[in-house]
Amino acid sequence: MPQPDLFAQPAERAAQLRADLARYDHAYYVLDAPLVPDADYDALFQELQRLEAEHPELRTPDSPTQRVGGSPLPAFAPVRHAVPMLSIQTETDTTPQGAVAFDLRVRNKLGLGPDDPPVTYAAELKFDGLAISLRYERGVLVQAATRGDGETGEDVTQNVRTIRSVPLQLRGNPPEVLEIRGEALMKRADFERYNARQRERGLPTLVNPRNGAAGSIRQLDPSIAAQRPLAFYAYGWGEIVGWSDQPDTHHAMLDAFEAFGLPVAPQRVHGAGPQTLIDFHARIAAERDSLPFDIDGVVYKVDSLALQRELGFRNREPIWAVAHKYPAQERSTRVLAIDIQVGRTGKLTPVAKLEPVFVGGVTVTNATLHNEDEVRRKDVRVGDTVIVRRAGDVIPEVVGVILDARPADAGEPFDLYQQLGGRCPVCGGPIERRPGEADWRCVSGLSCPAQLKRTIQHFCSRNVVDIEGFGEEIVSTLVDSGLVESTADIYKLTKEKLIGLSLSGGGSIQDLLASKLLKSIEERRKLPLSKFIFGLGIEGVGEVASKDLAKFYGSLDLFLQSAACVHMLIEGIGVELAVGIDDFIHEKKNLAVINTLCKEIEIIECRPAGVDNFLFNFLSAVKRWDSEISKRNKIKPKLRGVGEKSLRNLAEEFKALDALLIGTSPAQDLAQMQSLLRTDDQCVKAVLFFEKNKYLTHVMGTEHPAISPRLRRILISKFGFSDEQLGAMTEAEGWRIVYHNNATGDRKRKDEKNSLTVCFTGFPEAQKKSLEEYSVTHGLMPKSSVVKNLKFLVTGPNPGPAKLARARELNVPLLTLDQFNNFIETGEIPS
Ligand code: IVH
Repeated sequence: MPQPDLFAQPAERAAQLRADLARYDHAYYVLDAPLVPDADYDALFQELQRLEAEHPELRTPDSPTQRVGGSPLPAFAPVRHAVPMLSIQTETDTTPQGAVAFDLRVRNKLGLGPDDPPVTYAAELKFDGLAISLRYERGVLVQAATRGDGETGEDVTQNVRTIRSVPLQLRGNPPEVLEIRGEALMKRADFERYNARQRERGLPTLVNPRNGAAGSIRQLDPSIAAQRPLAFYAYGWGEIVGWSDQPDTHHAMLDAFEAFGLPVAPQRVHGAGPQTLIDFHARIAAERDSLPFDIDGVVYKVDSLALQRELGFRNREPIWAVAHKYPAQERSTRVLAIDIQVGRTGKLTPVAKLEPVFVGGVTVTNATLHNEDEVRRKDVRVGDTVIVRRAGDVIPEVVGVILDARPADAGEPFDLYQQLGGRCPVCGGPIERRPGEADWRCVSGLSCPAQLKRTIQHFCSRNVVDIEGFGEEIVSTLVDSGLVESTADIYKLTKEKLIGLSLSGGGSIQDLLASKLLKSIEERRKLPLSKFIFGLGIEGVGEVASKDLAKFYGSLDLFLQSAACVHMLIEGIGVELAVGIDDFIHEKKNLAVINTLCKEIEIIECRPAGVDNFLFNFLSAVKRWDSEISKRNKIKPKLRGVGEKSLRNLAEEFKALDALLIGTSPAQDLAQMQSLLRTDDQCVKAVLFFEKNKYLTHVMGTEHPAISPRLRRILISKFGFSDEQLGAMTEAEGWRIVYHNNATGDRKRKDEKNSLTVCFTGFPEAQKKSLEEYSVTHGLMPKSSVVKNLKFLVTGPNPGPAKLARARELNVPLLTLDQFNNFIETGEIPS
């Protein structure tokens, strides 16, 4: 250890100490090869702390003493990423074939034939933590941000500074600006240690290392974050400015990062062709359990940055990278009991209580059995030995029973109604299973405490309204005590009411906890409309649908006044969901909760005057529908000539649909629009027809031969369909006849399944084979000859004349390889 230089100036001495400590940190945390004993390190650290205390001007942001310097934040500030943080596609085939498919995709896209040289790839781990972007300016860490929605993340600099392997200052000669992308994670040993300590103190434990990492990074108090040690590994980059000799391959970039002192996992390779990837996949499968942290698979990337640029992106995912997972892990164990849980919407889910078993990195004691039919199909009984599977983050499930191991005293075949005596296990109310549905439900709604608790928990949960502290235990306590009878009651809590409530896990709510809970509530008295809608917990309305609804309506009033047929105008909202939303917001109890909530909180609407926005969205949907139907039936669109600008003008001028319907104006556009909308009933039905045509095509495509009884009921009660009409809709063709008879025209459409065939001609044999395999992975059916209904014939350099002639005869479109690739990407067939 260097001896302290007693005559050095404080500034020089501080700089020396900082440099030494950073070097020791790097050796200890990144290289895993300590240079000095802990006691020496501590002595130097304390010396630096003393110096900085005496001379605060010497305290620099990259000083090792500043790793845990910050005070708790009120909230994280948003950070807009200079380069978006994207995700990657996952290869679902977990066999080596998955790597081959990726190679084929890349080669095809690059236009490489079988005789062209192999592509060089880099392979690395897929870390299972939290994506982080580190921003270094002139080598100093200035900001760390989470991924967020990819465009905007949260500023978590204070917490990331506590990660000891993240250098505060880069070594060597780093570029002017360097954004490092990587993953923060918790090593298994740190996870176990943390949980053991928590258990000792009777405090809550972490479910898995990933939650530990996420919780630590998103902790507002950096001193708490520092108690949960995390690691970081770099795998990519964002913005880079002023790097004159920047490497031109992915692997060389990672090597350069390592030289800058950044942690890069040693499990990485690069090499030519898919065999490199297959070998890496197999090697990591074998090493997986002995890695110090959990992984989520491996990642393959095209090594050359020039080729990466050429390949580009599709659906905001790089074409040049893919994640390759491992098969889900399975273990066998015994079923101790089959419990029935009541979900947020009253759904009764059978859950197997298991003899604890270690699967995929966690100890599993519960596994879902989904629903009654599933239990019966698998014939799971108490006492059985079953196979349990856990993949990634999903809830563990029972795959099947080992029938040979069934004991003589195994339970009876499962019968949910009988087991519950026909009553909800929580509220004792009636249960029902409607025809056509797989689930039994408790029908008591929010008067069932289980449903109420889960609804409140949902409302408070992190990705919804995010009221901190309202987890299972607190919510349970509040509901059981009778203090909270609806979500709105959360906002009426006071310190007096809270203090002294006894907690189910022992103890009672004290002053400190009460203040914390009240503070979290106060912070959420203002909500964006989308969060409010999401928080209501309408079945099937998740984050995406909530955002879409909020955007479409712009204001809560409009949303509440709307109707199912209007919800359906939103892309992605089908009839069942639309009717479900409609039922929910017209239910008296729900409306009462919504009204009370509105008194307690302020909803930030999408636009201050949402009306014009909504009307414009509505009119645009009608316009889309009009042109779609006319095209299909080869008739003139009714709204011909009414463009986006006219729609905007109409929306501006009339502000509401009623006003527009009865309004007068010299504009021709208005007359056209009115003539379409005034045929009120037909308009609504036409919209329904159009939307539902899509819906039914979808449903039927997935092996449901007929309209479900539920949909049937809905169509009768909500839209007045006749039995005759419904009867015709039970078959695909019948549905179309109803559709066309009611609208216009009477043309049939081709059966889509038969039209997904493709044939290749004029390619070298090997390339043809690989193209055929490639087609299969994209849902096409390769044919060896030109048959009727062939979707298209893809022609290579030497197409067979007979095939070409036959294709012309049958009117089969001819595609070049480029056009075919374009079709795979966009679904477009050039005319
Ligand atoms: S590359 C533009 N490489 O997986 C490509 N991502 O779906 C950006 N991840 O949230 C991603 N290990 O945090 C990449 N070696 C690795 C990774 C990795 C884990 C995470 C990443 C992202 C998700 C991508």
